[in-house]
Amino acid sequence: MFSIEQVTYKNILSVPKLTIQEKEITCIVGESGSGKTTLLRMLNHLISPDQGSITFQNEDLMDMDPIELRRKVVMLPQTPVIFQGTLRDNLEIGLRFSDKTPPSEKELEETLERVKLRKKLDENAQNLSGGEKQRLALGRILLMEPEVLLLDEPSSALDDETESLIIQTFVDYAKMYNKTLIMVTHSKALAKKFADRILQVRGGEVHEWDH
Ligand SMILES: Nc1ncnc2c1ncn2[C@@H]1O[C@H](COP(=O)(O)OP(=O)(O)O)[C@@H](O)[C@H]1O
Ligand SMILES: [Mg+2]
Repeated sequence: MFSIEQVTYKNILSVPKLTIQEKEITCIVGESGSGKTTLLRMLNHLISPDQGSITFQNEDLMDMDPIELRRKVVMLPQTPVIFQGTLRDNLEIGLRFSDKTPPSEKELEETLERVKLRKKLDENAQNLSGGEKQRLALGRILLMEPEVLLLDEPSSALDDETESLIIQTFVDYAKMYNKTLIMVTHSKALAKKFADRILQVRGGEVHEWDH
């Protein structure tokens, strides 16, 4: 699905070769500052490598329309963006540039259910706690139905129990709908539990993590 060859980015990341298979659940672990976020950002072309090539479905990322790419490869940043307005506004905004039919009331309700957010669609999103905002942003992504989900420490603002539940939800979702999931997590235990493959980033290099 992704193929990286001889890629470097500043003095931050250096990846001679890395392929990520379709439909796999890849967890990325590594110390803070090791380059995990930089790697994810490269995969949906938020940043461009200084050297080397990245392909997505055999097409060079640099030749693809970034908007088109980001419909297929959606990233949830570590600190998700919450827009002014209601929960409904925040769920629908991800579909603003898509040609999908707007979600029905039932789909919106189901999405809140999925991310364990027991709130009304018409509530003001600014009143949510940090963890709830993160779950709202996860819901927004689910509605976009991307082929690849890039999750950057999706659980850092969540308590342990919710963290496991949410990651389980995403893993089940990915398996059921044949999605590719690439997730940075600080928890090696969670990586071991859910990943098909674990990558460790250390000082800007990416290694298979044998566990
Ligand atoms: N645009 C940038 N310019 C310069 N340095 C950066 C930039 N982005 C990240 N860095 C640095 O690169 C390193 C890796 O960052 P990052 O990928 O965010 O690490 P991680 O997600 O593993 O904590 C850090 O030292 C960070 O300060
Ligand atoms: Mg990071």
